[in-house]
Amino acid sequence: MSLLHVRDLSVIANNAGRDVTLVDRVSFDLAEGEILGLVGESGSGKTMACRGLMRLLPRPLCASKAARFGWPARTCCHSMKPACAPVRGGQLGMIFQNPSSHLDPLMRIGEPDRRRAFRLHQGASKKDARLQAIDVLRQVGIPDPKARVDNYPHEFSGGMRQRAMIAVALGCNPKVLIADEPTTALDVTVQAQILRLLLQLRDQRGLSIIMITHDLGVVAQTCDAIAVMYAGRLCEHGSKYELLAHPQHPYTAGLIDCQPAHSSGHALLRTIPGQPPLLDALPGGCRFSPRCPQVGALCTEVLPQGTRVACHYPLGAQP
Ligand SMILES: Nc1ncnc2c1ncn2[C@@H]1O[C@H](COP(=O)(O)OP(=O)(O)OP(=O)(O)O)[C@@H](O)[C@H]1O
Ligand SMILES: [Mg+2]
Repeated sequence: MSLLHVRDLSVIANNAGRDVTLVDRVSFDLAEGEILGLVGESGSGKTMACRGLMRLLPRPLCASKAARFGWPARTCCHSMKPACAPVRGGQLGMIFQNPSSHLDPLMRIGEPDRRRAFRLHQGASKKDARLQAIDVLRQVGIPDPKARVDNYPHEFSGGMRQRAMIAVALGCNPKVLIADEPTTALDVTVQAQILRLLLQLRDQRGLSIIMITHDLGVVAQTCDAIAVMYAGRLCEHGSKYELLAHPQHPYTAGLIDCQPAHSSGHALLRTIPGQPPLLDALPGGCRFSPRCPQVGALCTEVLPQGTRVACHYPLGAQP
């Protein structure tokens, strides 16, 4: 059953009086217990899309008013108003890209302010909130959580900080967890532990996860579905097996080809030639057309639409 419906989510920045669309009409569904991998080159808008979803955008950015997304039973938060707090944090939790810059260095891991969230979302008493903070640290694998709850972030290793970040996001029992590059800054062993923890949480709590990553290896190990972003738009979306085995968008095929496992032994790593376009100077038609190896007549004229694949000449289609 679909738990989260995202429809036409846009994020717009106002740059010296000019509107620049950073995320352009992104739509997808997320089922209960599903893990969706959101992939794409740096700057393609993955973080902005998820911040737009959480309504956590730094000023002067705003998410489009036309965005309609929410739970079957209630509409999701539409602003920073206090009324939105039960949704942001309560139903949607986010692990940020860099835990070191999102855990306040002056705040203990289980600081009363953070425990306030338990009281806000779950009506817990002060004492219960501390016990809950300890319990959630235990669940994410922090050793000796009773003592560690009073530590500061600098007393934690990188992997433990990431676990603490997951604990903060999970604290209020969200239904959907957004994990922005949860393993990028970690060594491979710790990376595997964190991925295993996320899978466990999915199995135990039926948690749905949006996993933002550059690493198609991580996607192959953990995700059920994949959405590929390019220059602020979704260009392909499908099940993991379908998309990795039979990519239809030339950009997805290019990303798969660039994975080290696909380059043979001593060969140089492959890249997709060219750079993504600047968002305030987009090419006409398809945004990938200047880099596309099979650009056709329509590509420079008409912006392709489509939910499975947004391409005028998808790979594998009959000519
Ligand atoms: N505060 C801001 N104001 C204006 N533009 C911004 C702001 N923050 C980010 N951007 C722009 O929004 C676009 C999308 O950025 P975003 O951080 O979502 O990319 P990303 O896909 O998450 O990249 P990465 O993989 O490097 O994290 C980029 O072009 C970036 O320059
Ligand atoms: Mg990002």
